[in-house]
Amino acid sequence: MNHYTVKRAQHETEREQALDIRRRVFIHEQEVPEELEIDEHDLPDAPTIHVLAIDPKGNASGTGRLREYEPGIGKIERVAVLSAARGSGIGRLVMEKLEREAKEQGFHTLKLNAQIQAQPFYERLGYIPHGTTFMDAGIEHIAMVKTM
Ligand code: COA
Repeated sequence: MNHYTVKRAQHETEREQALDIRRRVFIHEQEVPEELEIDEHDLPDAPTIHVLAIDPKGNASGTGRLREYEPGIGKIERVAVLSAARGSGIGRLVMEKLEREAKEQGFHTLKLNAQIQAQPFYERLGYIPHGTTFMDAGIEHIAMVKTM
């Protein structure tokens, strides 16, 4: 994992690489409907920040996105690591990059909706669960918040 780099997707090819990871993880693996997974925040002219984790061979293995939720509050969404690459710190690298981008945007708070199975991953990164669980795309979620 030390040899992974994480960068902001700068152009259309990189944005497509991010979407490709999400298609593999959320649509094919988790069976989220494509019409729910890919939304208006993924359009090429949306102000959303997408990040990519790149392995030493140049292959993209992880992604996540950040957008403004309300003034001062960012929302992290669609964090995904290819199944073969999980458990070696790439998800953490993706989150740390998204948090650096959030600071640059001036967000004082970050919000996300965690799948219940991923809640411990976000808790290790300082996110605190709020409220009760809810269903989204057929998957149980919980809202989580981190103050920067
Ligand atoms: N349950 C408990 N702990 C977990 C976990 C899980 N599901 N996933 C990761 N962790 C822990 C790791 O053990 C590690 O702990 P450590 O810091 O004590 O060593 C820490 O979280 C960081 O793990 P990392 O290796 O960076 O995570 P990853 O690269 O495997 O990525 C996900 C984590 C959740 C992004 C990845 O499993 C994934 O893409 N899952 C499918 C898509 C998904 O569920 N996305 C989240 C939607 S809300």
